[in-house]
Amino acid sequence: MNALIVCTSVSHGNTKRVADVMGEILHARVVEPEHVDPAELAGYDLVGFGSGIFNMSFHPRLRQFVQSLPTSTRGKAFVYATSGFPQPPFKPYLRQMAGLLERKGFEVVDTFSCRGLDTWLPLKIVGGVSKGHPDVADLAAARAFAVGLRARLGAVS
Ligand SMILES: Cc1cc2nc3c(=O)[nH]c(=O)nc-3n(C[C@H](O)[C@H](O)[C@H](O)COP(=O)(O)O)c2cc1C
Repeated sequence: MNALIVCTSVSHGNTKRVADVMGEILHARVVEPEHVDPAELAGYDLVGFGSGIFNMSFHPRLRQFVQSLPTSTRGKAFVYATSGFPQPPFKPYLRQMAGLLERKGFEVVDTFSCRGLDTWLPLKIVGGVSKGHPDVADLAAARAFAVGLRARLGAVS
């Protein structure tokens, strides 16, 4: 299986740490969206798309990249994120990103999220929330997620 992981990680590198452990398992390069030629995506069986969550949405750089893709017949994709808080039920941003990818032609096979140190300004007063995250357990969960993907999709040529 030929995989690529697209990652925007601007705040503390939280999402990059998650992407890197997934990349090790999937033997996938981790790249910023600005460093991917959209035409290159057609050459992958599986593409991961992830970022930190900002104002209850994926980072604008990642969203703009996905929005700019032409609709086409595409392979499989997964969505991943780190955030200070769990996804609220009234703003299902993981599902929204999956929907955007599906409208571009991807088959979204799964999503992953975990906590990441959040120092959004008002939270700085208390030194941030989700301190120490992603921690060892978060990274183990990310690794297990990627192992699961590899087991399910590994037969894709
Ligand atoms: C300006 C700003 C806005 C944020 N908004 C949210 C949010 O709406 N929900 C949330 O759970 N976390 C929020 N966070 C926390 C980030 O999602 C979290 O720190 C994430 O792990 C950052 O990932 P990165 O280090 O890969 O950029 C925000 C952080 C900043 C700095």
